[in-house]
Amino acid sequence: MNKFSRNVIPLNLSEIEHLPNGGRIEYEFFPTDLDVTAPLLHYICQERWKDIGIGHMVDGSVLELEFNAAPKIFKLYDGYLTIITEGWHLHLCLSPNLGGPDRKTSPEQSQARLVTRAALYRRLNPDGEPRSWGIQFWNGVGVKMMTFFLPNPFIGENDDLLSERKPNLEKLKLYEELRNTYVLGIQEIPYDRNPLNKRYISVCRSSRCLPSRDYQPIYDALQAAVTEAGIEDLEVCVSGCLEVCKMGPVVFYSDDATWYTRVTPEIAKQIVDDHVVGGVAIAKHIYP
Ligand code: FES
Repeated sequence: MNKFSRNVIPLNLSEIEHLPNGGRIEYEFFPTDLDVTAPLLHYICQERWKDIGIGHMVDGSVLELEFNAAPKIFKLYDGYLTIITEGWHLHLCLSPNLGGPDRKTSPEQSQARLVTRAALYRRLNPDGEPRSWGIQFWNGVGVKMMTFFLPNPFIGENDDLLSERKPNLEKLKLYEELRNTYVLGIQEIPYDRNPLNKRYISVCRSSRCLPSRDYQPIYDALQAAVTEAGIEDLEVCVSGCLEVCKMGPVVFYSDDATWYTRVTPEIAKQIVDDHVVGGVAIAKHIYP
């Protein structure tokens, strides 16, 4: 496994998209390895959530969502980053999506879903003046995915448009910081490890695997066992569907991608003691 590096190796790649109104978008690309995209997204969503927006921008439609607080959940499962806030959630495929235990994703589909191009952008008006700043992602078939909107010096505190002659240029600091770090590689990533590379054990709280509705005792048992064993680098959490959808409660251990079904509080403790600590999985409850 490659060691995490705080220095991004620049791609030195840029592109211009000409717009029908005579304006243009200037893109500066950066690598899409998980060790680059994970710290970037963690930083802007968890630490700079007040400053950014998330959405989708194509001809004829713009969607823009804002955070009211740091995300409740920021987690990678089967290649997808899931971000959950109070009011909305999103999924973005940052590493290969392999599929659940019953249905594997084909290599073609996995490649199509994956973020394969990423760039910081400036959108310029027909007079060549920059008017908006952000981050754009593309999937493996070249389609624009999510856009992250960065602070705009022409927009005031109450979302009012400031005078063209009086932009608040302080607001460009985040764009400059991200450009220095991810495009130019002259500033270090502000983490010493990939923030998404954390092992976790999760219990499904969706309702399709019916008994999982009673996920709380399983969660509590996992948490108690992890605390009792003194394990510090394992997060216990609840999640949405874990792609088994039967024989719940369903538990997933991320370290070696193991699914467990029919988990009771006793089995939950055994998973922690025997599998997480002892390295021996509980064969009787593994799925499939
Ligand atoms: S609903 Fe629980 S695994 Fe799908």
